[in-house]
Amino acid sequence: MQAGTIPKSIQARKWDLSGLQGISDATLETHFGLYEGYVKNVNLLFERLADLRETDKAQGSNPQYAELVRRLGFEYNGVRLHEQYFDNMTRQPQDVRSGKLHDALGASYGGFEQWKKDFMAVAGMRGIGWAIAYYDLANRSVTNMWINEHQNGNLAGALPLVVLDVWEHAFIKDYKPSEKAKYIEAFFANVDWKACEGRIPA
Ligand SMILES: [Fe+2]
Repeated sequence: MQAGTIPKSIQARKWDLSGLQGISDATLETHFGLYEGYVKNVNLLFERLADLRETDKAQGSNPQYAELVRRLGFEYNGVRLHEQYFDNMTRQPQDVRSGKLHDALGASYGGFEQWKKDFMAVAGMRGIGWAIAYYDLANRSVTNMWINEHQNGNLAGALPLVVLDVWEHAFIKDYKPSEKAKYIEAFFANVDWKACEGRIPA
């Protein structure tokens, strides 16, 4: 293989989140397995793309190449969003009544509770995807977004502060499909606000 065509690879991470409120260990175990599947698929795509580059088939007119590149956006975000989701939950949730995160969320929505109400509304949207509070470095404001699947709706140049997985696999072992609101409440009982705040740059 030529220099420059060596496939990149990413490593799956581990979390110890057993004992969360309202999100069972069984759900987490299934979810970690799904996450590892995304890691595996990203690495597979890196390999296949490197192979195509090595054989000069990395052409925009090659539908196989184009499809693999598009799939990379889905699988790669599937990895990173899950990492951010697991990273922003804890067995020891803290209060969030002051501080940089509280102020940033409140400044954009007229108060923390108003931000939370809007975030829950976004999370309650029909479909499979994510609710994410994005922090735009360009104007230091927060915008709650719906991410369809993993790749559609992410704000360019903005940092995810609070990341909630609202695919059904995130809650279907614990709640009925019609009870997504209960899962969203459970998520808020486990948010690691310090981790979220740590995502805001100085
Ligand atoms: Fe998920």
